[in-house]
Amino acid sequence: MRRYSRILGTGGYLPETILTNDQIAETVDTSDAWIIERTGIRERRIAGKHETASSMAEFAARQALESAEIEAGTIDLVIVATCTPDRVFPSTACLLQQRLNVRDCAAFDVQAACSGFIYALSIADQYVRAGSARRVLVVGSEVTSRIIDWSDRSTCILFGDGAGAVVLEAADEPGILSTHIHSDGQYQDLLYVPNRNGLRNSEEDDQFLKMQGNEVFKIAVNTLGRIVDETLAANNLQKSDIHWLVPHQANIRIIAATAKKLQMPMGRVVMTIEKQGNTSAASVPLALNEAIRDGRIQRGQMVLMEAFGGGFAWGSALIRY
Ligand code: COA
Repeated sequence: MRRYSRILGTGGYLPETILTNDQIAETVDTSDAWIIERTGIRERRIAGKHETASSMAEFAARQALESAEIEAGTIDLVIVATCTPDRVFPSTACLLQQRLNVRDCAAFDVQAACSGFIYALSIADQYVRAGSARRVLVVGSEVTSRIIDWSDRSTCILFGDGAGAVVLEAADEPGILSTHIHSDGQYQDLLYVPNRNGLRNSEEDDQFLKMQGNEVFKIAVNTLGRIVDETLAANNLQKSDIHWLVPHQANIRIIAATAKKLQMPMGRVVMTIEKQGNTSAASVPLALNEAIRDGRIQRGQMVLMEAFGGGFAWGSALIRY
């Protein structure tokens, strides 16, 4: 019998502090109207001083375990997608493992910037299909606020903090129908975060995110259009077979372009961008969790998740929830 993975439970966590566009406009030359029109973002959450990727991951993971109605001890693989880890090492997944008091199983991080969760989900799915894992905890958790230059109006308006989690379990039927991941390192200079210990493009390089927004925008729209086609073709499905689009939340105009490609009304697109901004690897699991919890996504429905980000790295996952 073939083996698949299916989503048993989901969880999410957002820090308490809300940062509005108006508050940002007090410190940089921008306005609420400009940000809403160009991005769809009204506010975002900012992690407290003592919060980290692993502490937020713990909240999201505990909620996912609770909704899956399983004990943490039954997890046999922990994967955390983050580009804002607590430490260089140990991995955030190991720190989460300790927080959850899970012993012995493998735990590692995946770094694929904003596509990290889709990458992590794809890896988890392969482990389950191969019979190497039965229950996997997959988390996206980010404190993007700590890699943002708060004096750069072209980037500081875009990002937010949070964590989302899913518990996968082996099943006889999908579940996850397919995942598709890609990357192309030739675009590395369009969107990156310098590393104090690594490659420096110039003496001015600090530790903050750099982005050529309009270039990223154009490539993101084209690439996401292609991955939608690839995912439908791989599963022999029509656009009309998809009930919900759960996109990475980078810009409402990028999301709208992908929905248009799918001929999907915006009412069937899960959007958190207005209140959360871009939470990088956390954005897809946070959106998925929200739409499952509020009853929009129902068991048996077809859900297409996609993401695009630094690398460039991009990907999709098609699930029958
Ligand atoms: N407030 C007001 N004006 C701003 C601004 C802000 N926060 N940020 C930039 N501008 C200005 C620019 O300086 C520029 O001014 P100029 O014409 O005088 O030079 C003008 O707005 C247009 O800039 P541009 O970068 O072309 O705007 P845009 O329509 O592309 O919107 C982004 C900028 C960042 C919102 C958009 O490019 C974007 O969302 N890009 C992709 C982001 C993304 O997906 N990133 C991560 C992938 S995970």
